[in-house]
Amino acid sequence: MWIADMDFRTAPYVSEAMRRRLDRDVLGYTYGPDEFFEAIAGWEKTRHGFDVPTEWVEYCPGVIASICQAYLTFSEPGDKVIVQPPVYDPFKSYAERLGRVVTDNPLIFRDGRYEMDFEGLERLFDARTKILVLCNPHNPVGIVWPQETLARLAEICDRHGVIVLSDEIHGDLTLYGRHHIPFCSVSETAARIGIGFGSPTKAFNIPGITGTAYCIIPDPEKRERFHATLENCKNREASIFTIEATIAAYTHEPDWLEAVKHYIEDNIETVVSALDGSDGIRAIRPEASFLVWLDCRALNLPQDALIDLFNEKAGVVVNNGAGYGPGGEGFVRLNVGCPRSIVEEALSRIRKVI
Ligand SMILES: Cc1ncc(COP(=O)(O)O)c(C=O)c1O
Repeated sequence: MWIADMDFRTAPYVSEAMRRRLDRDVLGYTYGPDEFFEAIAGWEKTRHGFDVPTEWVEYCPGVIASICQAYLTFSEPGDKVIVQPPVYDPFKSYAERLGRVVTDNPLIFRDGRYEMDFEGLERLFDARTKILVLCNPHNPVGIVWPQETLARLAEICDRHGVIVLSDEIHGDLTLYGRHHIPFCSVSETAARIGIGFGSPTKAFNIPGITGTAYCIIPDPEKRERFHATLENCKNREASIFTIEATIAAYTHEPDWLEAVKHYIEDNIETVVSALDGSDGIRAIRPEASFLVWLDCRALNLPQDALIDLFNEKAGVVVNNGAGYGPGGEGFVRLNVGCPRSIVEEALSRIRKVI
C-alpha cells in the first residue's frame, strides 16, 4: 500500500480512446492537436473555476521531469530551492541532483492540522533563493490549501523575487466536497510568479503511460523561457496515448471520477475509524487523494522499528514518513486506492501486530 497509484481500472472511456488509437496501427510521430489544449483549458474551467486561455497551456513530459526543467530554466547550480516538508521527496532529490541547494520550510502540525510556517519562510530567503516548490494539494499530508494561504504565499514569494512551482497532480482528487484551488488562479501576483503542473495520471490511474502532464503559465516571459527549455531538450513531443488519454479523461462527464472519489472516501473512513489513536496510531483524514498519513508517534518506536512493524511484521508495505523530510519521523503513508477488502485486511494485520 505504498507507491501512489491505485489498484482500479481506469475509466472505460480512457482505455477505449487509447485502444481506438492503437487500432489505427499507424503510430508515427505526432503533435498535440488543438483538442488536447482545449480539453485541459475546459477542465480547468469547469472543475476548478480557472479561466485558462489555451496559449497558457503546454504539454509537459511528466510532472517531476518538468519540475526539473523548471529548475534548469529559473535557477543556476548553487541557487536555493525551498520545499515544505514533510513533502513528496523528489522535489528535493532532483533539485540536489541538479546541483541546487534545498532549504526546508517545514509545515507546522497544530491541533491535528497542518499549516504553512510563513514566519519561518520569511527568514529563509536570501539572494540565491530562486524557487519555492508548492505541493497543492499536499502529498503526503493531504491538505487542500485554502485561497488565503496560497495568496499569502504568493505575496511573500513575490516580495523576495521567488518563483512558485505548483505541483497540482492530486488536484482532481479533492474529497468531501472540497475544491482544488490552482495556485495561479488566486491573485494577479500568483499568476505572475507561478507555474502550475497538472496531469490526469493520478485521478484516472494511468501513470504507467508516463510523460503525461501539462503546465499552465500565465506570465508570457516565463512561458517563453520555459517553452524554450522544453524545446531545447526535445521535450515537447507528447506520446499519442498521452494525447488520447488526456482528451478522453478531460472531456467526459466526470461520473467515473466522482464514483472513485466516493469509494476512496469510504476507504478513508474505514481507516480513520479503525486507527483513531487508541492503539497508538492516529490516521489523519486527507482532504484530497488516496494517501493517508498515519501519526504513529504514540507508539514510541524508533523509525526503523516502526517501518519493520508495518512492512515486515504486519506485511503491509507503507512509505516511510521519514523519507518526506523533517516532520516525517513517527509517521507512515498508507495508500488506500484499493479494494475495501484489502484495506480491511491491512487494518486487521496492523492491529494484530500492535
Ligand atoms: C505530488 C506528486 N507529484 C508528482 C508525482 C509524479 O508525477 P510524474 O509521474 O508525472 O512525474 C507524484 C507521484 O506520486 C506525486 O505524488
